[in-house]
Formats: sequence, C-alpha cells, structure tokens
Amino acid sequence: SHYYLHLFESFWCPSIHVEAVENFQKHFQAKESDVIVASFPKSGTIWLKALTFAIVNHQRFSSLENHPLLTSNPHDLVPFLESVFGGNIQDHQIQLLDSKPDPRLFGTHTPFPYLPESIKESNCKIIYICRNPYDNFVSAWVYFNKIKPESLPAIPMDEAFELYCNGILDYGPWWSHMLGYWKESIAKPNKVLFIKYDDLTEDTNFQVKRIADFFGCSFTEEEEKNGTVENIIQLCSFEKMKDLAVNKSGKVGIAAVDKSKFFRKGETGDWVNHFSPSMIEKLSKIVEEKLQGSGLSFKNCP
Ligand code: A3P
Repeated sequence: SHYYLHLFESFWCPSIHVEAVENFQKHFQAKESDVIVASFPKSGTIWLKALTFAIVNHQRFSSLENHPLLTSNPHDLVPFLESVFGGNIQDHQIQLLDSKPDPRLFGTHTPFPYLPESIKESNCKIIYICRNPYDNFVSAWVYFNKIKPESLPAIPMDEAFELYCNGILDYGPWWSHMLGYWKESIAKPNKVLFIKYDDLTEDTNFQVKRIADFFGCSFTEEEEKNGTVENIIQLCSFEKMKDLAVNKSGKVGIAAVDKSKFFRKGETGDWVNHFSPSMIEKLSKIVEEKLQGSGLSFKNCP
C-alpha cells in the first residue's frame, strides 16, 4: 500500500510520507545552526549527507580513526525529517530533537515551498544536490524495481520513462523540485547552496571546499596541506562507503528500505547504456521546455 502517490497540493507525495510532511511542517522548529540536506530522490543524497556530516564536523572529528561515518550509515547521522516525523509523532521524538547537539543535521525530499516556515525564515542553511534527469531516471527506475514488494511486478523501463516524463514519481515533478531550490539558491546564496552531482564527481575537491566555505568552516591552509580534504573525500567515496559493514545491512526510514540499496554504480553518464534515441529526444525536449530561462543546465547531456 505504500506504493501509491498522493497529490499533495502540487507534488506527488509517497502516501506513507503525507502525514510526516504535515507533521514536520507543523511541529519542526528550526534553529539557526541547523543544516538541511535536501534532494530529489536518487540524486546522490547519501553521498551529500556523508560529505556534509564530515565537512561540518571536520574539527570535531579531525582524525579519521573512529570517525562516526565508519560505524554509522549517513541516513542515521543525518535522518530524514520525513522519517523523524513519520507515523505516530510522540512528544519524546520532539524532545529528542531538542537534545541533539548543534549543529543538527537533517535530510529532506520535501519540495522547497512545502518546507516548514521556520526553516525558510530562520538563518539555518540548506544544501541541495541535483542530478541530471538522465542519470536520475536510470537510478530511480533500477532502485524502484529493487525495493518494490515481491508481490508487485517489475516496472518495465518504457512505462517508468513515461511516468518520469510526466513527473509522476516520489516527490515529482522533478523539474519543479529542482527549480524550487535553484531559484532560492539564486535569491539567497547564503541560505541555499545548490550542488550538481556531475560537478561533485568531476571536481570533488573544489566542491568540498565550496561546501566548507558555505557553512563557515573553511579548511585552513594547514588542513589543505596535511590531507584533511582528501581524507574526507576518500571516507565518503562510493568505493569506501559501499564496502562498510554498516552500509551493507539494516534498514532505513519509515519505508524500511535496505541500506545496501543506496549504492549501485555511483557514476555520471551511465544513462548512455539505457537510453534509446527516441528517449533522448523526448527527455531533452522536456528539459529544454521546463528549464528554459532558469539558468539551470546540465553538462554531458544531450
Ligand atoms: P546510481 O543508481 O546511478 O548508482 P540517493 O542517495 O539520492 O538515493 O542516490 C543514490 C545514487 O547515488 C545512486 O546512483 C548511488 O550509487 C549514488 N551514490 C551513493 N553513494 C555514493 C557516493 N559515495 N559517491 C557517489 N555516488 C554515490
């Protein structure tokens, strides 16, 4: 039953998250020191959660021995607000939030306009990861078939593509999702940092420093020389994270998804192995139509 989508004003909300989105809109009180890692699903959320945690805490956990990312899954260190507020929200959950040490880190897939007012109005910071729709589609399609209940038939790629082109998938349409955060990042660059997965893959070092600058915890020259930045990149790399025992078993979120399912290929451009010429033509038209005039564009895509 958690597979149907509920049209929540103007986005497709997974039915099991509807109550959570309403609850956290109503009850979440942001603090100025909070960090919100936002994304459209299958855009590299787990990678950005790991990097953000490591960067924001780089002075606290300066040694990589005993680093929390070696023993905790990024989704546990940076829980989704949709999970914290899912189900029967109890007072003790809210108290637990208050007792979390600063800075508190949370994740969310909720579109920008539906975030709690307290997040939008306070000086807390939002970091958003955006993936090109070609790779995002392939990742989402493979993932959906991996996590669907056995009782449901696998979704063929052409059907999934049709839905994707119409924006009908969890937290879709993807173009409004991206544009909501993109526009805010332009209007308020100190509040919202917009990161592209492709840029993060291409020059991780540069983007890691950009993230640290955004959070006001820039690396010192000494730290750049002694390998602090490179160590963080290695710690959060696909190869490293995928092989950690803590990311191989256990479940996450109210949908209880296997933690191992968040690691597949971790590449940019895998879409070329899946797209036919007609799919390319169709998606490129949608991208052009939906994003025109916004200034948002994607490298290495048709
Ligand atoms: P692929 O399916 O293309 O491999 P999300 O975390 O939003 O669910 O996104 C999952 C995607 O991010 C998957 O893409 C996954 O492999 C990729 N990913 C996960 N960890 C990563 C890492 N440390 N570095 C780069 N990509 C990563």
